[in-house]
Amino acid sequence: MKIYLGFLLLLFSFHANSFEYINKEGKKREIPELHHILDVPLLDKMKPPKEFELGENRTLQCITCHGIEDIEDTPIDEVDKDHDNFLRGGRYRKLTDFCYNCHQKEANTRNNIHILLDEQDQIIEHKCKYCHEEVPDQNKEKTLDEIKLRLPAEILCYGCHLKTPHLNSIDHLVELKDKKLKQWKHTTKEKNIYMPLTKKGKIMCVTCHAPHQKGILKASLPAAKQVEDVALKEGILYKKHPWAEVYETDKKIRLAEFNQKTGENLTLEYKRIKAEVLLRLPAKNGELCLSCHTFDY
Ligand code: HEC
Ligand code: HEC
Ligand code: HEC
Ligand code: HEC
Ligand code: HEC
Ligand code: HEC
Repeated sequence: MKIYLGFLLLLFSFHANSFEYINKEGKKREIPELHHILDVPLLDKMKPPKEFELGENRTLQCITCHGIEDIEDTPIDEVDKDHDNFLRGGRYRKLTDFCYNCHQKEANTRNNIHILLDEQDQIIEHKCKYCHEEVPDQNKEKTLDEIKLRLPAEILCYGCHLKTPHLNSIDHLVELKDKKLKQWKHTTKEKNIYMPLTKKGKIMCVTCHAPHQKGILKASLPAAKQVEDVALKEGILYKKHPWAEVYETDKKIRLAEFNQKTGENLTLEYKRIKAEVLLRLPAKNGELCLSCHTFDY
């Protein structure tokens, strides 16, 4: 398995808010919001030491990685992180050394989980199971309740992405209401497109982003409508713009405030989007934005 550990470490040092959800056995689970995924089976090639206790069907449970009794029933902020066995195997000088108990050291290119077709255009089933409990039928429309994701859709992306992959993302994770809600209802119906909201009506990453490579879902499904004007492994492409400097100066203050508020250290460059992937509608011509925003303000 190739993973880009550097990026992930950033994520683990991010301070944890917790997130509660009910798992499929009906049990209440609380985990830090930005945390390694649970309940997935160990891959055959992973051979951690014996003390990494696995759950039923060799799945990852709290006690697999943490040597603290009752951790599952302890409120997140009361867990003793200084305990010698907080992470199995004792104290590690570097967190990556802990990861290498299961993951291979080769690292440095991130395994793009969204690339779900192999060279023969067959789906790579074990990748589906990173997010789904079972491999879903590609031809069937499913609601968020029916689709059985391993983690609720609103936190599914945080294991690998930050809450702030781009400047406007965090401001958008709010309840959609009034005029914007009306516009959203209108557009999604008119364009027969899927832009799901959380149970509480809030915007989440998958409201704007499709999680799958194009070609996974049957083309006629609303959830299959997405932009992919470049191979997924290229990612979103930008081109330099002559106005970049003006734009950056203009945004400097806002950015400083944002960094202070979130404890981040984002920098910004004005770039035009050249090619887009994993978006439900194109953003470069404003279509995506206009599915909620209207022009009259
Ligand atoms: C695959 C391994 C793995 C599994 C499974 C796992 N954890 Fe963790 N957990 C980690 C790692 C790695 C960290 C980050 C440690 C660090 O930053 O030093 C962590 C951090 C934490 C923290 C501290 C968060 C903070 O920063 O305050 C808590 C609490 C925690 N885990 C609870 C749990 C609970 C509860 C479960 C089961 C529901 C669980 N973990 C399952 C690997 C795991
Ligand atoms: C006890 C074993 C174990 C430990 C320790 C562990 N992981 Fe994992 N990790 C897994 C398993 C199992 C999966 C799911 C593999 C799959 O289905 O592809 C996984 C998946 C992942 C993925 C997504 C897989 C992908 O395809 O890119 C990332 C990223 C990841 N782990 C990072 C980490 C990091 C960072 C650490 C250390 C802080 C860590 N893991 C420690 C077992 C572990
Ligand atoms: C990165 C996480 C992720 C991976 C990997 C993933 N999915 Fe999904 N899938 C989701 C999310 C989130 C939803 C719900 C939102 C949506 O439908 O777009 C979903 C929904 C679906 C749906 C229901 C679509 C509808 O009509 O609403 C199907 C079918 C599906 N996935 C099939 C697959 C298959 C097959 C694979 C593997 C080839 C796969 N998924 C891999 C995250 C993922
Ligand atoms: C309101 C719509 C919207 C929401 C919500 C949203 N995004 Fe985006 N995202 C976009 C658009 C548009 C782009 C491409 C242009 C850009 O970078 O601004 C993008 C780009 C990205 C990129 C690529 C960035 C790069 O520079 O390569 C990642 C990764 C990403 N989003 C992840 C997320 C995650 C994770 C969330 C949830 C925390 C999220 N997005 C929420 C609209 C959205
Ligand atoms: C197992 C880890 C993992 C999970 C979970 C995951 N992603 Fe990604 N995502 C990646 C990797 C790796 C890339 C490739 C680009 C990179 O390295 O940042 C990527 C790329 C993207 C991009 C395109 C950025 C670009 O320019 O290539 C978007 C948008 C995105 N992810 C959104 C999401 C959303 C939305 C979710 C939640 C449904 C999600 N991701 C869940 C690992 C993950
Ligand atoms: C799913 C609906 C949705 C989509 C799609 C969307 N927005 Fe928003 N946007 C919102 C909501 C909701 C707010 C918060 C408004 C509030 O606080 O009342 C917001 C706020 C904003 C703001 C802050 C100013 C304001 O109006 O409050 C900007 C700027 C913005 N969006 C730009 C964009 C851009 C650019 C795009 C396209 C890339 C986009 N939005 C796509 C729903 C959306």
